[in-house]
Amino acid sequence: MIKINNLIKEYKNRTVVDVKELSIPNNMIFGIVGGNGSGKSTLLKIIAELLPQTSGTISRDVALDEMVYLFQKPHMFNTSVYHNIAYPLKFRKFNKNIIEEKVNQMIDLFDLKHIKDQNALSLSGGESQKVNLARALVFDPKWILLDEPTANIDPKSTMQIEKILKSIEMNMVIVTHSLNQAKRLCDQVAVMAEGQILEVNTPEIALKNEVLVYV
Ligand SMILES: Nc1ncnc2c1ncn2[C@@H]1O[C@H](COP(=O)(O)OP(=O)(O)O)[C@@H](O)[C@H]1O
Ligand SMILES: [Mg+2]
Repeated sequence: MIKINNLIKEYKNRTVVDVKELSIPNNMIFGIVGGNGSGKSTLLKIIAELLPQTSGTISRDVALDEMVYLFQKPHMFNTSVYHNIAYPLKFRKFNKNIIEEKVNQMIDLFDLKHIKDQNALSLSGGESQKVNLARALVFDPKWILLDEPTANIDPKSTMQIEKILKSIEMNMVIVTHSLNQAKRLCDQVAVMAEGQILEVNTPEIALKNEVLVYV
């Protein structure tokens, strides 16, 4: 559970996030949806402690190192796909056999076998995002925070990624500008506009509300 109270983020004198109260439950895919510039990424970064808030509190029942945040633009390391995915495990000093087993599980899950020895800097956008996700999931985080995980990715890779996200049981927050994606993926969504949360609802109900004319 992540709880947000009276959260404000200001740049100079402009308020870009102003969230009075928001609770993100465990065991679901929770969406933050809204148009460009509505404050979604800023809010997600504050939740991940990548950005300080101006005021307000966030409490959560998980340690920071059990949470993983995925940037909208995947950052690949200049080494093979295999070693990119192995990185978080090496960093945490897992033993060699476990690393091999877990990395191979991810390679199977994301269908990356044919490119496992390819340098990650040479991957397409869709492939990079799959490696990015595999690398995030390989160490079994408790929460995963994703910022527009399928922006700039073709429909086929988008569907593959959505299928995997739906199949893994994990506490998840997904930022997306696409209500249709939210409808396919999310159990609940918070609708954002101009830094504020307009409503929290199932995506089906949120979609019907006139508030959503931005899409
Ligand atoms: N570092 C920054 N300095 C000033 N304004 C910023 C900064 N980062 C974001 N903003 C502004 O905050 C608003 C919300 O941005 P963002 O959270 O990226 O929106 P979204 O992810 O919903 O598109 C935008 O108007 C953006 O221009
Ligand atoms: Mg954004």
